[in-house]
Amino acid sequence: MHDNRVLILDFGSQFTQLIARRVREAGVYSEIHPFNVDPERVKAFKPSALILSGGPSSVLEAGCPDLDMQYLEMGVPVLGICYGMQMLAHKLGGKVVSSTDREYGRAQFSAQNDCVLFDGVKDSADLTVWMSHGDRVEGLPEGFLPMGKTSTITFGAMGNPERKIYALQFHPEVAHTADGSLIIQNFLFKVAGLKPTWSMASFVDTCIADLKKQVGDAKVVLGLSGGIDSTVAAVLLHRAIGKNLHCIFVDNGLLRMGEKEEVIGFLAEHFDLNVKFVDAAAEFLNDLKGVEDPEKKRKIIGHKFIEVFDREAKAIEGVRFLGQGTLYPDVIESESFKGPSAVIKSHHNVGGLPEKMNLKLVEPLRELFKDEVRRAAYELGLPEHIIWRQPFPGPGLSIRIIGEVTEERLGVLRLADRIVQNEMVASDWYRKVWQGFAVLLPLKTVGVMGDDRTYENVIALRIVDSLDAMTADWSRLPSELLARMSNRIINEVKGVNRVVLDISSKPPSTIEWE
Ligand code: XMP
Repeated sequence: MHDNRVLILDFGSQFTQLIARRVREAGVYSEIHPFNVDPERVKAFKPSALILSGGPSSVLEAGCPDLDMQYLEMGVPVLGICYGMQMLAHKLGGKVVSSTDREYGRAQFSAQNDCVLFDGVKDSADLTVWMSHGDRVEGLPEGFLPMGKTSTITFGAMGNPERKIYALQFHPEVAHTADGSLIIQNFLFKVAGLKPTWSMASFVDTCIADLKKQVGDAKVVLGLSGGIDSTVAAVLLHRAIGKNLHCIFVDNGLLRMGEKEEVIGFLAEHFDLNVKFVDAAAEFLNDLKGVEDPEKKRKIIGHKFIEVFDREAKAIEGVRFLGQGTLYPDVIESESFKGPSAVIKSHHNVGGLPEKMNLKLVEPLRELFKDEVRRAAYELGLPEHIIWRQPFPGPGLSIRIIGEVTEERLGVLRLADRIVQNEMVASDWYRKVWQGFAVLLPLKTVGVMGDDRTYENVIALRIVDSLDAMTADWSRLPSELLARMSNRIINEVKGVNRVVLDISSKPPSTIEWE
């Protein structure tokens, strides 16, 4: 259990996850729950402070997402943001008016009444803030002071220092608001008096203790892919239950060169993990024979994986749990408030397996964001080459070979890709980009080598910068590095006589070619 805990009630803003990020970056544990969460869960969570998120609705509309007054009666400090501010004003007897114009974008804000939220903020008399609202507060509830204004809004912030309830019309959680993180920290530390106790060291300790309690003497089966999420999940589980963790590594024949040895072999050896290697390459490649359609390839690989995993897991006697590296954004995705028409997405990575195998899920990372997983990996003593591995898709090299996947094509791509990886590492670019890899285009073009004419395949280099893979841009690598990759691939990889560079961004292109 974390003693300093912030509950973020989600009213549907696209920025709610960012609030949680900022709070955790400040060293305070936070969780997002929908505004209509079961009050029993809130009681069990025992929040030390409450943050009300923004949202697209109007508090003046019938049926709008409502704040349950019992949360204000808990007596914990409250920060309302945007819709959260309007909700507080509305509920506590202030006046909210609607407007036909939405104010969207940067605004200049001036703090008032020595509001503690703006302690240490540079230019608090002329602060650049980010606004996104229609309604606004026109009359303050009793006991509240105006805490700031802009040229268009009289009450850009309000506060009741006695009750420790504050509210901001703008969004401190977005990067466009200057000193926004400091404003949130002032709420956490100066208003709510919290301590920054959320650290990866404390997470690792409590997580291991919780896993011991949850799993007891039972056996857990987990699919290791070599990616950072399943690796960290495995190491945490191993610390908690030792040899009762059974990891299964499926070689689907679509892996890069050295994949198995670099990660899984390393884990088995240095972390003493119980890993079963399953060579299913022939089965996968057989099912993929003659298949050219990218979606068909994905489906075939997904089904085969479940089949192989199910078979191997059943061979281990007494398994009661399935371990998964589910992350917090997936959990929010399936629990958050997204409006009445929202479809709830299942976050199970291995869709259908737990029900099919009658297993309970154990998800040690379900509280963590991606960068926190990397910090946990450091804490657990995993080496840098594992922590900083670039993401690699589940369907592996199959979606980097355009058209049919064959042994021969896999061999060519593996060699070319190895050169790309080596050169990225040697030039110190590997960690600066999101992903960098080779794609095999099995179309023939003419070349010349020595005195001979060649007629061979093309390799495309796909190297991109990205923050979250939702958008990406091609990396501006030095031309000498690109030249080295190209020369080496053409000289060292038989079957390739041309290298091209992909200079498309996402959108409209995607990162992978299929
Ligand atoms: P795209 O190609 O959609 O890729 O721009 C975004 C990110 O997701 C990875 N990716 C996948 N990962 N199974 C996975 O596990 C898949 O089918 C898959 N397709 C793409 C891709 O490598 C990139 O990081």
